[in-house]
Amino acid sequence: MKIQENYSLKKLNTFGVDVSAKYFAEVKDISDLKYAIEFAKINHFEILFLGGGSNVLFTKDFGGLVIKLDLKGISEASLNENEVLVTAKAGENWHEFVQFCLDKNYGGLENLSLIPGNVGTSPMQNIGAYGTEIKDTFVNCKVLNLENLQIEEFDNVTCRFGYRESVFKREGKGKYVILEVTFKLSRKNHQIKTEYGAIKTELEKLGVENPSIQDISRAVINIRQSKLPDPKIIGNAGSFFKNPTIPLEQFLKVQKEYPQMPNYPNGDAVKIPAGWLIEQCGWKGKQIVNVASHDLQALVIVNKTGAASGKEIYDFSTLIIESVLDKFGIELEREVNII
Ligand code: FAD
Ligand code: EPU
Repeated sequence: MKIQENYSLKKLNTFGVDVSAKYFAEVKDISDLKYAIEFAKINHFEILFLGGGSNVLFTKDFGGLVIKLDLKGISEASLNENEVLVTAKAGENWHEFVQFCLDKNYGGLENLSLIPGNVGTSPMQNIGAYGTEIKDTFVNCKVLNLENLQIEEFDNVTCRFGYRESVFKREGKGKYVILEVTFKLSRKNHQIKTEYGAIKTELEKLGVENPSIQDISRAVINIRQSKLPDPKIIGNAGSFFKNPTIPLEQFLKVQKEYPQMPNYPNGDAVKIPAGWLIEQCGWKGKQIVNVASHDLQALVIVNKTGAASGKEIYDFSTLIIESVLDKFGIELEREVNII
């Protein structure tokens, strides 16, 4: 394995921001990974792990060592006639992994079709879409503890998953690298999840009455392609902000002024779609120099001209936060990892 110097990261982040890493290594196995980590430790370099680069915004060049995880391999272990355990290494592409499972008729991940990025990153923010999160099928992940280079295991409880959250984004931040992830999937009697309204509508359009897991995947892919920009064509990192959850009391006050505000009550709190808040502030489709809010989904910030710097994108997101706070008194939190 070669450690390269002054390496361009432009093609390795889906925003397409033109930055470089002082040092860069692409690792294909654990011994390479340990070597790269030791190299950084000896030289007191900061480490940044990179999967598909679809949830990062580089605001400047990275002065330490970027380690791109390219560990590959998928294995299976039959649990019983109804369930199977499937394990994928960190560098496997998420969508290809989902398709691998669908080809084998293993159910549980179909609603998560077409999410960019790698399997190893999926526990970081408990990726979710269309009524499913990985925590619904996640069994455990193997990680390397960066301090002692020992392999440890986190299960569904110790991962402390939440909405776009896990231990790896909080108290475990910067302490572990995820090596592989295991999911428990169904082999038959699949649980078909169509409660997310758009899926039902899309299945009707496709003329499907009794959907299979493959039909669900097709519907999800169609919905996603109809509103989310393809990073290969226009730089973006998906939703830039989380959907905010506010206390019921605060919601009732805001709702008086904006009775048409979409909302998803959850106990004493209410989740509001950030895309709606941003659109109401007039940002949908709006462009400032190189950066814009996507014209079909206001929650997605795009590198409209391809020439945006990370700082420009970050500053654009600050303007959005300020105007949503000003109009609704609700503070948006960035979902994308700012580097
Ligand atoms: P990267 O961007 O490479 O890394 C993200 C963070 O994790 C960084 O901080 C990095 O240092 C760290 N990291 C990466 N790999 C590891 C590892 N193995 N161990 C430890 N740390 C690591 N997300 C959703 O949840 N739902 C969606 O529906 C969704 N839709 C999207 C649509 C588009 C068009 C795009 C561009 C993004 C979307 N995302 C969505 C966000 C993104 O796809 C996910 O967050 C994905 O899991 C990121 O994976 P990645 O490998 O690209 O991560
Ligand atoms: N909306 C608007 N205007 C917009 C966008 C959205 O008014 O421009 C409102 C509409 O009322 C719509 C509602 O927001 O009904 C929800 O929109 P959508 O179904 O597109 O979902 P979202 O809440 O904007 C979330 C995730 C996505 C995920 C989809 C589908 C977050 C931050 N985002 O988006 O995840 O794919 O649901 O489940 O939770 C990502 O994390 O990168 C991502 C794309």
